[in-house]
Amino acid sequence: MDKPSCLVVLFVSFGLLHQSVIGVQMEKLAGRKRCADKDCSYVISMAEALEDYGAPDCRYINLKRGQMIYVYSKLKPVEGAGVFWSGSVYGDRYVDQMGIIGYFPPNFVNETQVFVKKTVELPTTVSFSTFTHCIHHR
Ligand SMILES: *[C@@H]1O[C@H](CO)[C@@H](O)[C@H](O)[C@H]1NC(C)=O
Repeated sequence: MDKPSCLVVLFVSFGLLHQSVIGVQMEKLAGRKRCADKDCSYVISMAEALEDYGAPDCRYINLKRGQMIYVYSKLKPVEGAGVFWSGSVYGDRYVDQMGIIGYFPPNFVNETQVFVKKTVELPTTVSFSTFTHCIHHR
């Protein structure tokens, strides 16, 4: 290989490496959230997915248009972080996904029924179910 083409190969492989490193970096999530109770164990509301949503990593859930979702928490919108809610999908057709709580963007859903109006503010921590779900997928 002559010198210029060698350099091209070097640049291309560096570019790919760089891309994969960025791919591994997870999006920052807000540090505070609002839940129905201090354990975030109660459903705040019921929502319907208006569009399909593909989870970018294992902290998120996939949504299919028309799916019903139990909303468990709402991250407080902050500078530099996207707006996300956490929840799990509900329905007979999605038994394999039921109980998996993950994040999704609220603009993909329509909140159809609000059960809890008075919410509490808490620090955002990765829930155990999200953690085990992530381990499962690695
Ligand atoms: C959202 O849900 C409400 C109540 O079920 C409904 O009336 C409204 O049409 C829905 N909006 C959209 C955009 O689907």
